[in-house]
Amino acid sequence: MTAHAPRQPLPTDLPADARLPRHIAIVMDGNGRWAQRRGRPRTFGHRAGAKTVRLCVRVCLEQHIEALTLFAFSSENWKRPQEEVGALMKLFLRSLDREVDELHEYGVRLRFIGERSTLAVPIRQRMDAAERRTAANTALTLTIAISYGGRWDIAQACRTLAQCVADGKLDPIAIDEAAVARHMALADLPAPDLFIRTGGDHRISNFLLWQSAYTELWFTDALWPDFDRAELSRALADFTARERRFGLTGAQVDAPSQGACA
Ligand code: FPP
Repeated sequence: MTAHAPRQPLPTDLPADARLPRHIAIVMDGNGRWAQRRGRPRTFGHRAGAKTVRLCVRVCLEQHIEALTLFAFSSENWKRPQEEVGALMKLFLRSLDREVDELHEYGVRLRFIGERSTLAVPIRQRMDAAERRTAANTALTLTIAISYGGRWDIAQACRTLAQCVADGKLDPIAIDEAAVARHMALADLPAPDLFIRTGGDHRISNFLLWQSAYTELWFTDALWPDFDRAELSRALADFTARERRFGLTGAQVDAPSQGACA
């Protein structure tokens, strides 16, 4: 696969000109159960889950999807048993060491969102280096949310704005939705169009709370290590069939020239 190769056919009957999402966000749930069903430790499931990450990156590159954001470790995951947290951190470190060359070759811009101060220095150093190295790539922006929470994200944006006010650089009256949005993580990307959660639960679990206001939600019972090309294609096909209204009426969406400004 080379950066910007022609779009590959999906294993669905989607027309070639189907409107795919520009930005997909995924909660990768079910690693632990996948491993336990095989009588193995939960960490075995996380390692298997890393392979599914690779597959999703590949499909996004093939389909020319602009951005993929993955929830790898939440603000709340720190409360898991220390052994599991340690194993996950080791897996992130190893994945960074192993995958960055290939991602760079494919033209992937790698980014991380979340509270970095909670992460060990070697991981932070690898993250910073990977971001710097891939910063100019344009085939796909792959964002890994690590030590991330949607509420943390909103709080950090508010803190930045409050500091600007305290420094006399911002009038509180100027704080509107656009001002908050500029300080949220992923401010430079289109909002996620499609949110996928594997593992059977139907909730957002403190992922991109602000950014997902009009995101289409799609849930599957498949556990993350079992999530495959066919399942991702089903999610994409379902997305293309939805009518997105963003608060307008169906008639306005069908005839945009007669919208609010007519
Ligand atoms: C949720 O499943 C998954 C996680 C908390 C970790 C996700 C991490 C990976 C997929 C590893 C690779 C990622 C990168 C970016 C290298 P769970 O443990 O909550 O599963 P359960 O619901 O079955 O217990």
